[in-house]
Amino acid sequence: ALRRAGNIHWQHVDVDKAARSASKGQAARCVWFTGLSGSGKSTIANLVDKRLHAMGRHAFVLDGDNVRHGLNKDLGFTDEDRVENIRRVAEVARLMTDAGLIVLVSFISPFRAERRMARELFGEDEFIEVFVDTPLDVAEQRDVKGLYAKARAGKIPNFTGIDSPYEQPETAELVLDTVSQSAEDLAEQVIRKLLD
Ligand code: PPS
Repeated sequence: ALRRAGNIHWQHVDVDKAARSASKGQAARCVWFTGLSGSGKSTIANLVDKRLHAMGRHAFVLDGDNVRHGLNKDLGFTDEDRVENIRRVAEVARLMTDAGLIVLVSFISPFRAERRMARELFGEDEFIEVFVDTPLDVAEQRDVKGLYAKARAGKIPNFTGIDSPYEQPETAELVLDTVSQSAEDLAEQVIRKLLD
């Protein structure tokens, strides 16, 4: 269990988020991709990142597979660990927007309550929830990493969509249909949403 430290005071810093992002010529944003494993979150986030970079914007991708190698390597895939995973990542994303960045967060983030918790860390226009809407049967058929086959064979417990829940977003700013549209076109939609 987490123990809360006492005697901690918030330290004020004079240069604020607006000043930091203005010096980069952009508005700080958190683009929060959510969707099943293999839905295409990382592919689309990477394309958005590349386009932003080419436009001279300063973005950064936080990806589940990567963050779980470092900061969150103590966490597994129980409900409790996923909740803590998302809590930490949301806080890191918040630090990055405070630094003036456009942060692209790519985690399954299966629970509505944690996505809401993440949203509440940001200003109203700052948080853009993007549902990468790939149905389970499609993700399972693509099975890019071979994880669904392993999960069906009982080799990966608590696999999202198989024996661990995924709660679809009800309040996403953007819903991406990966069945009928290409990753490039979907990335373009994200960019448009980001810049309008
Ligand atoms: S979560 O639910 O937000 O905490 O998950 P996340 O940090 O995004 O990690 C998802 C990636 O971990 C791999 N993996 C699993 N996913 C789901 N369930 C189980 N049990 C599991 N075990 C390992 C998998 O490669 C996920 O990557 P993506 O990119 O989502 O396919």
